[in-house]
Amino acid sequence: MSQPSKPRILTGDTPTGKLHLGHYVGSVENRLALQDSCECYFIIANKHAFTTRSDRPEEIRQSVIEIATDYLACGIDPDRSNMFIQSEVPAIDELTFFFAMLLPFNRVMRNPTLKDEIRDKGLGDEYPFGFPLYAVGQTADILAFRPEMVPVGEDQLPHLEMTREVARRFDQLYCGVDPHTDDKDYVKAGGLFPVIQPKLGRVKRLVGTGGPGPDGNLLKMSKSLNNAIFLSDDADTVHRKVMGMYTDPKRIRATDPGEADPEKNPLWAFHETFNPDKAWVAEMQEAYRRGKVGDVAIKKRLVEVLNALLEPIRQRRRQYEQRPDDVLDALRKGTIQANRLAEETLALAKQALRQDYFGRTLTMK
Ligand code: TRP
Repeated sequence: MSQPSKPRILTGDTPTGKLHLGHYVGSVENRLALQDSCECYFIIANKHAFTTRSDRPEEIRQSVIEIATDYLACGIDPDRSNMFIQSEVPAIDELTFFFAMLLPFNRVMRNPTLKDEIRDKGLGDEYPFGFPLYAVGQTADILAFRPEMVPVGEDQLPHLEMTREVARRFDQLYCGVDPHTDDKDYVKAGGLFPVIQPKLGRVKRLVGTGGPGPDGNLLKMSKSLNNAIFLSDDADTVHRKVMGMYTDPKRIRATDPGEADPEKNPLWAFHETFNPDKAWVAEMQEAYRRGKVGDVAIKKRLVEVLNALLEPIRQRRRQYEQRPDDVLDALRKGTIQANRLAEETLALAKQALRQDYFGRTLTMK
């Protein structure tokens, strides 16, 4: 008898730099927890990096390696999980073209994540055609692997909703699935693509180390906002970044009795997220409210907490930095697995689309 197979998950990152603490609690932590119970695919979406930096291919190449090194340093195990490079899996691009026909143009342009990116990255109306196309491509990144679940941060939910729409539409049009079918039953009803489920991280949105944005709200941690603590930052850098962190300027002086609000001071969000000693955090927050403890003590403790989390990651990272071939081997292995599965999906999709003419053998010599 065949083993009941594990549920499959797919997620990934666009290589525009190194991973930071926001990635860690938003998604990486979830991936580590799912490595045993699920069949895992992690895509490094290098083509998507070209949406905003097509003039810097070398930087994108470096970043692919940095992200792969970060994954390994965090504990993603290449013997259990498949991490792979998007541009080395051609079936994804082939599916993208077919899927692009299933989404109304205006629907793509209304995707709130694309709108936010246009605003936050100051793209104006100068963005390339490929910029909105990446969102369609992401539906293919996912569906090529027919996963059940996609662990992501909150900002990715609009892309996952589009992915669900593509799956329903494809299954209805080409696999004869009744439109009244429950989302969870599409495959049972004969559909090729599952209507995937998002899985959010423990922390939906980690704040950055800097102050609030123009609207007065604290900004999320992001490389481009220059408010990130990277998984690869050394202990001194973490110390410097934390000691220089923004805190509530209107808080009542530590010596005054009063009501300082921990919500307005991002230091508490960090302690709540990363400090394993919940009793200490609760006690200190109470003291903070009453003006009995200053930011410096809270910051010093945060430096210790973060360095304790990051030290093993740093150590493993240093080991992989000395063995770049191991990083490439892990990517190669994952990419071979990814192509096996994505090619199977593409062949099935072409059958459903009635465009399966010759089978797939491209022999060039
Ligand atoms: N857009 C995602 C990000 O910027 C990266 C990504 C690309 C992705 N393809 C994916 C995430 C597929 C989940 C599934 O973080």
